[in-house]
Parts: sequence; C-alpha cells; structure tokens
Amino acid sequence: MVSRVIPVDVFDLVVFGATGDLSRRKILPGLFHRFSVGQMPAEARIIGAARSDMTDAAFRDTLRQSLIEHAPQIAGDSDLLERFLGQIHYVCVDATGDKGWERLAQLMRPEAVRAFYLSVAPSLFGNIAARLTAHGIATPQSRIVVEKPFGHDLATAKALNADLRRSFEEHQIYRIDHYLGKETVQNLMALRFANALWEPLWNATHIDHVQITVAESLGVQGRGEYYDRSGAMRDMVQNHLMQLLCLTAMEPPSKFQPSSVRDEKLKVIEALEPVAQSNIVRGRYRGQNGTGGYLDHVGNPKSRTESFVALKVNIGNWRWAGTPFYLRTGKKLRARTSEIAVVFRDPPHMIFPDMANRRGNAMIIRLQPDEGITLRNTIKEPGPGGFRLAEVNLDMTFADLLEEHSEPQDAYERLIMDVIRGDQTLFMRGDEVEAAWAWADPIIDGWEDAALAPAPYDPGSSGPEDALMLLHRDGRRWREIG
Ligand code: BG6
Repeated sequence: MVSRVIPVDVFDLVVFGATGDLSRRKILPGLFHRFSVGQMPAEARIIGAARSDMTDAAFRDTLRQSLIEHAPQIAGDSDLLERFLGQIHYVCVDATGDKGWERLAQLMRPEAVRAFYLSVAPSLFGNIAARLTAHGIATPQSRIVVEKPFGHDLATAKALNADLRRSFEEHQIYRIDHYLGKETVQNLMALRFANALWEPLWNATHIDHVQITVAESLGVQGRGEYYDRSGAMRDMVQNHLMQLLCLTAMEPPSKFQPSSVRDEKLKVIEALEPVAQSNIVRGRYRGQNGTGGYLDHVGNPKSRTESFVALKVNIGNWRWAGTPFYLRTGKKLRARTSEIAVVFRDPPHMIFPDMANRRGNAMIIRLQPDEGITLRNTIKEPGPGGFRLAEVNLDMTFADLLEEHSEPQDAYERLIMDVIRGDQTLFMRGDEVEAAWAWADPIIDGWEDAALAPAPYDPGSSGPEDALMLLHRDGRRWREIG
C-alpha cells in the first residue's frame, strides 16, 4: 500500500518546556521524523522556550544528543540531522515574568502558522496563554496545545479551561490525548463508519459485552511522586480508556469533522451511568523477589493510590442498554497489551453439539503491540475427522499494509501535524474533558473511605483476583493479557 506525505503549511512552533522529558523523548523526535519524510517544510521553524539561559547553538547540542538517542534510525544521517537542527531556535522565557517575551514576538513571522505547545505544568497554562496574547505573539488564528493531565478533578479542569479561554477561543485550543493519535484508534473510526457491514451488528442486540484493556508491564518507578497523586483512574481511565470507550460506543457522526465527532463522543460520556463501588476493583502491585512494590516505588508507605483498576460500566442509551463495557488498566502486569475486544452474542439457536468450549465471535482491535484487527470466527475443523468445530482468527496487521521501508507514525507526530493543519478532530474539547471528570469524580470520591484500600496483586499477573470475579459473576471472562 502506498502512503502519501502531504507537506503542511510553513509554521513557527514554539515548544514551552523544550528542555523537558516529553519534548526530548516525543515532541522533537516526532518532528524530526516528519522532517525526514518531507512533511515538515524546510522553511518551518521550531522555537524551544524554557527557563534556562541558553544560546541556539547550546540548545541544538542538547537536542542532537536526544535525537541520536530517541530517533536513532534517522539520526545516523548527519546531513539530515544538521539540516533539521538548523531549523531550531531557542528563547529563554520566564512564564510568570517579563523576560524573553519581546524576543519571542520578534521571532514570529506574519506569514507562518503559529502554534504554541505547552509541555509545562498545568499551573503555568494561564500565565503563558495570557502573555502570548498580551505581547501580540498569539493572533486569532494561532493554536495552543496542552498536555495531560488536564485537571485533577472537575473543579480543576474547569479552572484550566477558564484560564485558557481568557486568552484563546475553543477553536484554537488543542488538548492532547495521545491515544487518539494511535493508528488503531483512528482505524476504529474507519472500520465503523466506512463499512456498512458492522453497523447493523453494533448494538446491544448483537454485542454481549466489550472489554477494554490497557495493560502495562512497567511499574511507576521514576515518576512515583506524580503517579501517587493520580492513580490509574486519573492517569488512564478518565482520559485514554474513556476515549477508547467513546469511539467504540458513539453514534455515527454526520460528518468527519471536529464538531460532529466530538458532539457524538460527548453524548456517550453523558450517557454513562454512575458506577457502584461493587462494580469496581482497585489493586496495587506488591514487591516480589527483591524488587520493590508500589509503595516502595512511590516512597509513601501510607499511600492508598491504585496502580490497577477494573470497572464495569453501563451506557444508558438505546444502543447499549444491557451491554456492559468492562475497562481495566494497570502497571506491572503480565505484558504490555492494549486492546478493545467486542464480544458478540451466541447464535440464538445452536444446532451443533460441541459448542461447550467455544468462546464465540469477537472483534479484537489491537492497539499495541502489533497494531491490527482480529476477527474470531467458528468454522468446521477442516479434514476428515467428522464434523468438529474450531475457532479461527481472520487477522489484519497494519504494519503489513505499510509501504515498504515506511515506518509507522508515532501518535505525537500525527497530532502535531494535525495542529498545524488546524484539524481538531483528534483532540479533546473542553466540555468533553469536564464531562469525563464529572463521571470520574464520584467514583474517586468513593475511595476516600480508608477501608477501601487497593487489593495487592503480584507483578507479572493479570491484576487482583477480584478483577477476574467482576466478569465471572456475570458468566463472562477476561481475555488473557499478552
Ligand atoms: C500516559 C500515562 O498518559 O500514558 C502513563 O501517564 C502511561 O502512566 C502512558 O504509561 C501509556 O501510554 P502508551 O502510549 O505507552 O500506552
């Protein structure tokens, strides 16, 4: 399959927090990749902005090292690397003071698309947004990009929205959820809305339940302080798993346009029913064989934060009433696997005797690793051994469909290019984020009761036993992790 790269318009992209981890690991390597395939024009400029005093040359030196580390496949081409670095500048700015803003204003070119990527603590969003407009750096066409966490609860998310909207209009604000930039997530929309095949089956009449799993094998070492204030519910469910649920459950939008897609996602969030504590399992990994457990990794023996959560979620609308969505995510699990499994109901009348161990039809949408889609079917086992049934997978792996030598795009690359193109479809709207918090807050508030400490689970397992029971008691079972 041949993929075409369409260059975006010339831009000036200012990355605040340019010396930080996300910028060095994801944002700049992602842009370098887009440059290497010809999507970032030669006149485009990236302007790093941060607190430390540094020259352009010193910033390029640090960046050169990061690119060699995080984009090794292309950084080996030193001519390419130096050409890319030539498009990078640096300004020292004080987010809460006056320093650097005039210089930044001078660097902006009237003809270029202006985008400001705030890879900084959310407490600085309002300060930076206000200075960008006060100094005439941001125009009504400029775009501002913000990272998660977008709030800690509904009240803080509302405050952040208010901070940003004092200086920017909603159509200029791009709230990143990098899960929306993943290949499979977008393919889910194509699968559902570009085929007539699935829509008649995509409802409670034909779908028994949906399982959404985002399992990680790493623990929280190195970012324990942040994580312990968030936990799996805030870090993953309120945003990433919520987006996966929305795209699976939403009604077909009337147009493939930001407002139509986001309106439909919002309706799903608003239709979520409150979740009883009896439908939630929280867990926390324990230490094993000398490796520390969650409490050691966050350095807080009194912590009650969960590193695993599983929930049974009901969507109160006509399409989904009676079809639960089971969500689970956790750290230190058996494997790094993310998938959406849509499990179909059994045939209404069975005519074959050996159906006992059959798991039934399912569509597995694999996010990682090995992005693709599997369709589980029942067939007659081929051969002369009588009429026996077997389950086989029809499999599609996206990497097999890529043009030879072309590499898959990282979620960040795609999303940054969408910002430059001015396409908000894969970004969260303010009301969407607030609705997701309005649903998550009562669940999290319910955990303030000290009696509800997370259940321990072994590293390398599938999470706490009780998570298995969440499905067993409904006569269902989770798919294996990994
Ligand atoms: C981040 C979370 O948003 O997503 C991390 O803060 C998590 O805790 C990460 O590890 C997972 O992203 P991915 O793309 O590796 O699945």
